[in-house]
Amino acid sequence: MKNTKEHIIDILIENKGRYISGEDISEKLGISRASIWKGIQALKKEGYDIDSKSGAGYTLIGKIEEQAMSPYEIKHKLNTKYIAQNIHYFESIDSTNIQASKISDKSSEGTVIIADAQTDGKGRTGKKWLSKQNAGIYFSIILKPDIPLFKASFLTQVTGAVIAETLGSLNIPCEIKWPNDIVINHKKIAGILTEMNAEIDRINYIIVGIGININANKFDDELSKTASSIENEGYIIDKIEFLRKFFELFETCYENFKNDDNKQVLKTLREKSAVLGKEIYVIKKGEKEICFAENIDDNGNLVVRNQFGLNETIFTGEISIRGLESYI
Ligand code: BTN
Repeated sequence: MKNTKEHIIDILIENKGRYISGEDISEKLGISRASIWKGIQALKKEGYDIDSKSGAGYTLIGKIEEQAMSPYEIKHKLNTKYIAQNIHYFESIDSTNIQASKISDKSSEGTVIIADAQTDGKGRTGKKWLSKQNAGIYFSIILKPDIPLFKASFLTQVTGAVIAETLGSLNIPCEIKWPNDIVINHKKIAGILTEMNAEIDRINYIIVGIGININANKFDDELSKTASSIENEGYIIDKIEFLRKFFELFETCYENFKNDDNKQVLKTLREKSAVLGKEIYVIKKGEKEICFAENIDDNGNLVVRNQFGLNETIFTGEISIRGLESYI
């Protein structure tokens, strides 16, 4: 359910470039002009540049995409039932995953925490995730699926497939380095950190955290061998458009996942794989072995052929892989 401010911003966005009177807005929303005025003042306080002219009404100044991201813009025309219908936005926060876990008990499924910067962004395996102001998209989704525990890890691959499909739909070609790093030109531009709170036989909640490097153009020498950003690789992305498309596709794929239908996701994982059909290093406890990546099975595991011609199934989390000459 949208609140008054969200309805007002929707109308201002729809009428961008012209003034709309308080009376018209009040008629459209069926609420008093005083409430419209209050809503406009609240939006201005939040940083919206709204001009008012007596006799003409209100207009949104400047390009909305130049302003800081806000829940209203993301929710404007967002076509989902519950994913991102509830958004908590922060200019800066320690970590959206940490914030998500703090509020998960009281939050409904699909609630999203999004920030323009993180001071303590978390990567996988205890690493840090660089999250400078406006350099990327950092967000977490709270999920409460009623599924057996062993199925939960596939959710990370569902998310990877949705990121890849969304970027593809925006004409940004990317690949998936199994199991779930998103790469462009062999460099990682997005990562997913899935965390779970569960009892022995029951999931309380899952937090899927997603970090996408948009214009994080200064990586140190070591990191720049393996990491990059969408802009560094020559593509432009509209954050809001990305998020809207992502949330819509995520809801569809997540619903299918809960119903044990992962056909669409598996198709994407295979078609956009950066490793299938290639020789790769499989690294287990520091030991490197060259293998041929044959397939991704229906459970999302990587099937490789080793040097003795035998097939091995690699489970996510157990092993890491690298390209023979580069990150992948
Ligand atoms: C990885 O190491 O590949 C996973 C990186 C995940 C980073 C995202 S940014 C939003 C969310 N909040 C965090 O602290 N981490 C995840």
